[in-house]
Amino acid sequence: MTQVDGEEFAQRRCRLLEAMEPGSIALVPGAAMQRRNRDIDFAFRQDSDLLYLCGFDEPDALLVLVPERGHGEAILFCRDRDARAEQWDGQICGPERAAERFGLDDGFSIAELDNILPALLEGRSRIYLTMGEYPAFDQRLLGYVATIRRREAGGALPPTEFASLKHVLHEQRLVKSDSELDLIREAVNISATAHTRAMRNCHPGMMESQLEAELVYEFMRGGARHCAYPSIVGGGANACVLHYTDNSSTLQAGELVLIDAGCEYRHYAADITRTFPVDGVFSQAQRALYDIVLAANEAAIAECRPGAPFNAPHDAAIKVMVEGLLTLGLLQGAPAEIIASGAYLQFCPHKSCHWLGLDVHDVGDYRLGNDWRPLQPGMVLTVEPGLYIAADTSIYGNTQHSKAAQSMFEESKGTGIRIEDDVLITDTGCEVLSHGVPKTADAIENLMRAS
Ligand code: GLY
Ligand code: MN
Ligand code: MN
Repeated sequence: MTQVDGEEFAQRRCRLLEAMEPGSIALVPGAAMQRRNRDIDFAFRQDSDLLYLCGFDEPDALLVLVPERGHGEAILFCRDRDARAEQWDGQICGPERAAERFGLDDGFSIAELDNILPALLEGRSRIYLTMGEYPAFDQRLLGYVATIRRREAGGALPPTEFASLKHVLHEQRLVKSDSELDLIREAVNISATAHTRAMRNCHPGMMESQLEAELVYEFMRGGARHCAYPSIVGGGANACVLHYTDNSSTLQAGELVLIDAGCEYRHYAADITRTFPVDGVFSQAQRALYDIVLAANEAAIAECRPGAPFNAPHDAAIKVMVEGLLTLGLLQGAPAEIIASGAYLQFCPHKSCHWLGLDVHDVGDYRLGNDWRPLQPGMVLTVEPGLYIAADTSIYGNTQHSKAAQSMFEESKGTGIRIEDDVLITDTGCEVLSHGVPKTADAIENLMRAS
């Protein structure tokens, strides 16, 4: 089974320790359980930074990295073993076993944090932290620093500087290792099978949530317990709500349905969108719009190569969509003016790319200084142009609209189309990881006809 081994976790911590200032300390808090209602909790999801650095997957943990500490540089605070709690909720690893199993130098009880962490902080000039992620922990930390300050006259050396972990750690997470790529591939493959299953099983009269059930079935069958984010299954005008998750309407013949869904496999996310006709056949107007988004998706993917600036795929997608909308008469004017003024934003309101990894909207800066950062091998990003004709939009431009454009526009109101792929930047260009889901209008119709 694909997984990240202990040696790779150790290498990741080593890289981070090397990037830290001498005499500093890094604090990486884990996630806590979140209450859903009364005495029921949401499913636990560990903090991605903690997962990246050691793979420990229990609530209420804190990883501490202390460069050049004589007694060991990597320390984990976690819950104590508790027979009664384990009878109800399952095994707790406990500090001793955690240190051994996860290749760390020391394990301490999280209940001892107030006693042990201040001593680790004392004499360390800089504290690295992803500030603001866990406000209660930030608050507690300030308390520890204040306590050390109060003992300054007695010779205590309080930390003097807080620094963001973001730059050192998230830059590291941005370029994926081979084992991470295996896990992302698995998440994408399972999700691609799920999208294909949904296309095959879609028919008019179904609830959107019933189509969602096809996705979840395939995710779990493939070995993924969770969705990477709430699945979007929007028929007709619901597809114009970008993060629609009600999934409570009935799918009608003649409508398109937009599915944006991906599973999380061993903590790595997939993020795929396909849009297809509920009854298996695109109308002429739907196909015309669909083909514009498809061309935009393909033009954007063609820009995904090492050295290309991060925004190049998005710019290429917008150019193609603006040209397509001009051809259909839904936009009027000069392409450059439409792009510069943002007039296209009523139809194409979102960006076309984001990083993908442990988090569906993964970490890593998009700009270096004032410039968009160049893509490099090992980065994984989505390519997801979208075109939405919401009910309250109108044709842009002052000139007389042709009858054909007007009728196309009226027919298309309440249509949302997005086509989203997951793309790995390679040494020579890119690899579309989500190629397994039909994407052209013909391929979709053929699959649905054969089902
Ligand atoms: N599923 C959220 C997104 O596509 O970014
Ligand atoms: Mn998506
Ligand atoms: Mn996305």
